Amino acid sequence: MSVTADNVAQQPPEIAAEAGRRRTFAVISHPDAGKSTLTEALALHAAAISSAGAVHGKGDRRGVTSDWLEMEQARGISITSAALRIDYGGCVLNLLDTPGHADFSEDTYRVLSAVDCAIMLLDSAKGLEPQTLKLFDVCRARRMPVITFVNKWDRPGREPLELLDEVEQRIGLRPTPMNWPVGIAGDFRGLIDRADGSYTKMHRTPGGATRAIEERMDPAQAAEVEQEAWVQAQEEVELLGEIGAHFDEESFLAGVSSPVLFGAALPNFGVSQLLDVLVGLAPAPKDQPDAAGVGRPVTAAFSGQVFKMQANMDKAHRDRMAFVRVNSGRFERGMVLTHAATGRPFATKYTQAVFGSERSTIDTAYPGDVIALVNAAALSVGDTLYVGPKVEFPPIPSFAPEHFAVARAKDVGRYKQFQRGIAQLDSEGVVQVLASDVRGEQAPVLAAVGPLQFDVVKHRMEHEFRAPIELAHLDYSLARRTDAASAPAAHALSGAEVLTRRSDGELLVLVHNKWRLRVIERDNPNLVLEPLLAGGVETDN
Ligand code: G4P
Repeated sequence: MSVTADNVAQQPPEIAAEAGRRRTFAVISHPDAGKSTLTEALALHAAAISSAGAVHGKGDRRGVTSDWLEMEQARGISITSAALRIDYGGCVLNLLDTPGHADFSEDTYRVLSAVDCAIMLLDSAKGLEPQTLKLFDVCRARRMPVITFVNKWDRPGREPLELLDEVEQRIGLRPTPMNWPVGIAGDFRGLIDRADGSYTKMHRTPGGATRAIEERMDPAQAAEVEQEAWVQAQEEVELLGEIGAHFDEESFLAGVSSPVLFGAALPNFGVSQLLDVLVGLAPAPKDQPDAAGVGRPVTAAFSGQVFKMQANMDKAHRDRMAFVRVNSGRFERGMVLTHAATGRPFATKYTQAVFGSERSTIDTAYPGDVIALVNAAALSVGDTLYVGPKVEFPPIPSFAPEHFAVARAKDVGRYKQFQRGIAQLDSEGVVQVLASDVRGEQAPVLAAVGPLQFDVVKHRMEHEFRAPIELAHLDYSLARRTDAASAPAAHALSGAEVLTRRSDGELLVLVHNKWRLRVIERDNPNLVLEPLLAGGVETDN
C-alpha cells in the first residue's frame, strides 16, 4: 500500500528541507587507492575529528574489540562497516564505509544500494583497477551518479588526460573535470578551478595531520609563480574546453558523465574542493520506489530499509546491529516501528549512530541518514521498517556467488546450534545458503562472492554459535538462475547441480566454469539459464 495524502500531510514540516541537505554516498576503489586516507581527510576538513587518523585508525582500533575484530586485526583487513556523518557547508554528508577487502565486495554492493552517489577513487599512477571496475558496474546498473577523484597527485603518476581517456574508453563514463592540476603527478602545485579560472596553490602542512594551507591566486599571479607548469596546465584546460568536457547536471545524475577532481588525500590537497562538489552537485535523497514501484515521498511517514547487518561489535553484548537507511520521514529514538516482513513491532530505544569505531546515541534522523538498531536479531538484510500504513521496499539483490562449499557440523550433537547459526548468518547476508533434497538439511551449500566470507562463517559458527563446522569446497565457480520447469533437466547435466537459495527461493544451477557453461548452453538451448546479476554485475570467470 502506498502512502496516502493524509499521511504525508501529517508529517513534520522540516522533513523536505532536512532531506534536501543530506548527501549520502560511498567511496568505490581498489584496495590501497587511499579510501581510508580520503575518509579521514574528508572528516578532517569538515572538522568532524581533530586530527587525521582518528576515523579508522588502522593500527589503533580503540574501544571496540571482539573476537571477530581480533580476526580482522590479525589479518590486517577491514571487515566492519560504519557510517560517518560529516557536517559541511550547511549539508549533512553521510559517508557509508565499505569493506576494503575485495572478498567482502558483496557487502560493498549492498552498501551501494543505500547511497545516492558514489565517489570513484583512482590512484593517479594506476588508473582503473579490477575492484574499482567491479564496483563501478554496480553503480552503473543502478544508474548512480559517480564523482571521480584522482588521488595521490603528490606522487609520480600518469598524465591527467591519459587517465581521463582511460575512464571514457574503458567504462564509457564521460569525464568532466571540475578542476585541473598544475604540475605533473609527483610535482603537485595546486588546482585550477575550471568554473572561474582561479588558481589555488597548495602548501603542505607537516605530516598532513591538519588541513593543507590553500593560497588563492588570480591567473596572472599564478602564471608568474608556476611558470612552465602553469602554461602546460592552461593548454590542457583549453583542450578540455575544445572537446566540450564541461559539467552537465542531467548526464551526471543519469550516471553518464562524471565530474572529475584531482588531489592527494594524504597531504589533504583538493579535499575541500571535493566536499564542495558533494554539497553543490551530488543529489539529495529522492523518493524511493516501493516493491510495487510506487515512489515513497521522502516527506511521508518514517520508512527505512536494512542494508547491512553486523554482529559482535561489542564482546560484552553479543548483539546484532542492523544498519538502516532512512528513506522517508523523521526518525526519533524510542519510536515503535513495524517490521514489514513479520508485521511485528520493533522498539528503537537503543538506536545508535555509528561513527568510526565509536558509537553514540542518535535521537533524530532524516532521509539519507543511517541509523543502527541494536538487538536486531529478528531483522534481515533488505527488510523494511515503517510507521503508519504498510510500505515495503524491493529486496536488495543477491550477488553472483563464485565460491561454494558444503558445511557440516563437526559435532552432530550440536546440530540445533548449527542450524540456528547457519540461518542467522544467512539472514545477515554473511553468505548465501543453498539447499537441495539431494544434499539434505545437514549439509547446506554456502555460496560466497569472496572466499574470506567462509572464514567469517567458520569463525562465528565456532565462537558465537558454539557449533564448529567443516567446510568441503565444491568445484563450481558459476551460478545461473533457472526455473522449476528447467530444474530437473539442469540437475541431470554432468558438471552441474541445482540448489535452492534459502533466502528468496531462487533456483540456482551451479556450474564448474564458464567453458562448461558454454557447452551446456550450446547443447541445451531450451534450458532457462539466466545470468545472476548482481545488480547487473557479471564477472568473467
Ligand atoms: P585504502 O583504504 O584504499 O586501502 O588505502 P589507504 O588509505 O590505506 O592508503 C593506502 C596507502 O596509500 C597508504 O600508505 C596511504 O598513506 C597512501 N596514500 C593514500 N593517499 C595518498 C596520497 O594522496 N598521497 C600519497 N603519497 N600517499 C597516499 P601505506 O604506506 O600503505 O600506509 P601508511 O603506513 O601510510 O598508513
